[in-house]
Amino acid sequence: MKNKIFEIKNELVEKRSLSIDSYAELIRGRDETLASELRAIALAERERYYGREVYIRGLIEISNICKNDCLYCGIRRSNSSCERYRLKKEEILECCEKGYPLGFRTFVLQGGEDPFYSDEYLCDVVSEIRSRFPDCAITLSMGERSRESYERLFNAGANRYLLRHESATKEHYERLHPSAMSFENRMRCLSDLREIGYQVGCGFMVGSPYQTERDIARDLKFIEEFRPHMCGIGPFIPHRATPFGEFEKGSAELTCYLLSIIRIISPGILLPATTALGSIGQGGRERGILSGANVIMPNLSPQSLRAKYEIYEGKLSSGAESAQEIDKLKEDMRVIGYEIVCHRGDTRVF
Ligand code: 5AD
Repeated sequence: MKNKIFEIKNELVEKRSLSIDSYAELIRGRDETLASELRAIALAERERYYGREVYIRGLIEISNICKNDCLYCGIRRSNSSCERYRLKKEEILECCEKGYPLGFRTFVLQGGEDPFYSDEYLCDVVSEIRSRFPDCAITLSMGERSRESYERLFNAGANRYLLRHESATKEHYERLHPSAMSFENRMRCLSDLREIGYQVGCGFMVGSPYQTERDIARDLKFIEEFRPHMCGIGPFIPHRATPFGEFEKGSAELTCYLLSIIRIISPGILLPATTALGSIGQGGRERGILSGANVIMPNLSPQSLRAKYEIYEGKLSSGAESAQEIDKLKEDMRVIGYEIVCHRGDTRVF
């Protein structure tokens, strides 16, 4: 049994590819020895592509208004206890103005699917950021839109798009989302984004309700085949005002193990140590970096609004999660042997 799993590990390292069955076994049969071997390989791969550099992105949470009703998410439409806000163009630009001198060269505009942001409005925001900050990358994370909309935003100057696939198993995807949303449309969005020329990020939650090891195995297969430029994974964390409020939270240990595997599948990928990983326990972000992650996304949203963007409970937005405390983050990284750098931090996946 033990031999079998070490064979699977060797196959992964050699081929950067496994069958879904083997991915599932690698997850099911993990122990601390295997995890530390995979971690060491992942770190060596990361170092080959990115040295000891850690890339930063300034995360601007532009709106917590959402027309969707995802069962896990604290800003879902039917959560009437969520106090809603949205940032206007000038407020978004102010966040960028604050971030630039702090060293941010990527701005991520993230929000719920808020119909207020028409293509006209968002293109105007994007082109203004593009002209004021020509040396910065603009990342959008605004959910599902039409192909035409993605094209217009790309032409206005957006470079990257984050849209987690949430689950590569249709049946599982459907248990996490209301029937108004579809797995097919999610996948359509991801392939449109890639065809248009965006650097694309997908991703999923670890330990979401009803998720099996086989579901995660299919997520890994999807990452292997779709070859995203970025991939965001973090533990599921329940939010009391959602239908999933009583489920268990996901595990930091499994999240870090998967970070190592994803780094080995696609060594040039951009992998954030997510806020969710940082939020479930002390030192989560550092553990993420030490498992193969190479990106951190500190919060650049207006301080007074941060608590309102509560997609899960206990979401950190202060301390080293705060863009304003970049010096603390630099120190935290230095202590573990890594260095925050101030450039766009483009992908090495082509
Ligand atoms: N726990 C962890 N992650 C969550 N997300 C949404 N709700 C939660 C939660 N309760 C993740 C989703 C989404 C991203 C913005 O945050 O994967 O795509």
